[in-house]
Amino acid sequence: MKGIILAGGTGSRLKPLTSYINKHLLPVGPYPMIYWPIIKLREAGIKDIFIITNKQDLSSFIELLGNGEELNVNFEFGIQKKAGGGIADALMSARNYVGKEKFVVILGDNIFEDSLIPYVKSFLKQERGARVLLKEVKDPTRYGVPQLDEEKKSILSIMEKPSNPPSSYCVTGIYMYDQGVFNYIENIQPSSRDELEITDVNNLYIENKQLEYDILQGWWIDAGTHDSLFQANQFVYEKTLKEDAPNE
Ligand code: DAU
Repeated sequence: MKGIILAGGTGSRLKPLTSYINKHLLPVGPYPMIYWPIIKLREAGIKDIFIITNKQDLSSFIELLGNGEELNVNFEFGIQKKAGGGIADALMSARNYVGKEKFVVILGDNIFEDSLIPYVKSFLKQERGARVLLKEVKDPTRYGVPQLDEEKKSILSIMEKPSNPPSSYCVTGIYMYDQGVFNYIENIQPSSRDELEITDVNNLYIENKQLEYDILQGWWIDAGTHDSLFQANQFVYEKTLKEDAPNE
């Protein structure tokens, strides 16, 4: 299986930091943010990784990551033609790279504790369709929020940043897709914020009864705001750096 990391967007909620540097290159613990999803893919045995970013940031990513040899993975890079055109728009740039294989997508600002291994295994057993990972959160209004039928273990619909959330879960930025995703993307229209929304794509999977889910057990954070970037640094310090510290 291959992995895709989305590292475009405008990073507007992290200005002025993102006025001069791409969000995914900002520090989280000892590493640039993008290292964390790379490490998670590698841990799950996914070493062919496609990184999609904006044209003006491409050279910084190549300078930092090269072909992946140092991190023991293989990188290729793609450009999102319409910068800020939405998550689904960015994903379209991966079409040729993934071919007919199933793949995992991680939003480059999602930092999390769980290993992807069990979720990837379940997805590989799934004959077709997509799989999303959910997490219970304090303020669902910031995210894509699923309406669940917990008895049947199914998602009935997903709302993007709803003012009246239908559950206390969010759909995290960890998605697993079959190649059908690209046809679905071709069939959606830009939202009111002029983006091709991944939530609209996931709702098409639901309409076709092809969306499965799991719930993340460990901590998860979308490091896209000043508050959450600070929290991500705290989590990484508490959970990893402190444990590794020689004198503790
Ligand atoms: O983090 C989980 C949430 O991510 C989901 O619950 C939402 O359903 C989903 O829409 C998304 O919401 P955000 O508002 O947090 O998305 P954001 O615009 O911050 O973009 C997240 C990442 O996607 C960002 O780190 C880079 C990538 N991206 C985003 C856009 C808009 C791109 O590569 N290109 C883009 O045009």
